[in-house]
Amino acid sequence: MEDRNKRPENMERLRTPAQAEAFIAEQIAQIRAQVGEQKVLLALSGGVDSSVVAALLIRAIGKQLVCVHVNHGLLRKGEPEQVIEVFRNQMDANLIYVDAVDRFLDKLAGVAEPEQKRKIIGAEFIRVFEEEARKLEGIRFLAQGTIYPDILESGPVKAHHNVGGLPEDLQFELVEPVRLLFKDEVRVVGTALGLPDSMVYRQPFPDPGLGVRCLGAITRDRLEAVRESDAILREEFAKNGLQGQVWQYFTVVPDFKSVGIRDEARTFEYPVILRAVNTVDAMTATVPDIPFSLLQHITQRITAEVKGVNRVLYDLTPKPTGTIEWE
Ligand code: XMP
Repeated sequence: MEDRNKRPENMERLRTPAQAEAFIAEQIAQIRAQVGEQKVLLALSGGVDSSVVAALLIRAIGKQLVCVHVNHGLLRKGEPEQVIEVFRNQMDANLIYVDAVDRFLDKLAGVAEPEQKRKIIGAEFIRVFEEEARKLEGIRFLAQGTIYPDILESGPVKAHHNVGGLPEDLQFELVEPVRLLFKDEVRVVGTALGLPDSMVYRQPFPDPGLGVRCLGAITRDRLEAVRESDAILREEFAKNGLQGQVWQYFTVVPDFKSVGIRDEARTFEYPVILRAVNTVDAMTATVPDIPFSLLQHITQRITAEVKGVNRVLYDLTPKPTGTIEWE
């Protein structure tokens, strides 16, 4: 029997809008045949893969798709708003927005160990999703943005597109329309479906989100500093033509302070670390040569605009010996 999770050897690499349209038409037919008149649930993070799956399902079955967007408080600036704008306002999707910020931050309070933080975030996510699924009752299908590298499990990009870990009595039949596609192909399909470039070309973002960039035990003030400095870094990289050129870039806020000076008074505040890397498969990475004047400008903006920050550092470490993330 044909393995539905194996990419056929003769499958062409999907590159052109025409190929994307053909793929979309084929998937729409398959999705309709699979789910009929039934409802389908989707955990919509706003990342490339779940967004493309959402857009595809909206085309195929419209309001039969129920999207659940969980805001765990660890998303980048503007992300929950963009999910609501694109899917609810522009695509008229059935979207449930769950504000779980306090819940996640309460669970994470005082937890400093990185793997423990990841576990708490993952487990809490499943719990929130489970609660939403139970409220909806009677949904048999679950859509997921599984892509081919997830099936091959290649590389250390720990993105996993599943809500595995749901209790036994809450089992679904899976709908995984992009499971045979590589990331670049998913992007071509996303563009053909009318998703904005800012969503389609988003850089990789770890599942635990900003949680692993607010080092040690997460506090709300440092989390805001990560979010605000990350937004400035992204804005400046975009303005200066580096968006799409540099593979991944973000900021990190450690859990120690240093002495500084502002308006002739001594300060004792957090530093922000800038991280930018280029890589092919995330197994190894190099640090790009960012123009010094841009680094100076970003430093100036972050120290002027981000509350509680008096110092900015640029991480020069390739992988190895540094991993891409700090935790
Ligand atoms: P490292 O830090 O291991 O990161 O060099 C390699 C790539 O994986 C991402 N990453 C994660 N992705 N869950 C994820 O979904 C995680 O826990 C996680 N940790 C790291 C990281 O952003 C980089 O792209």
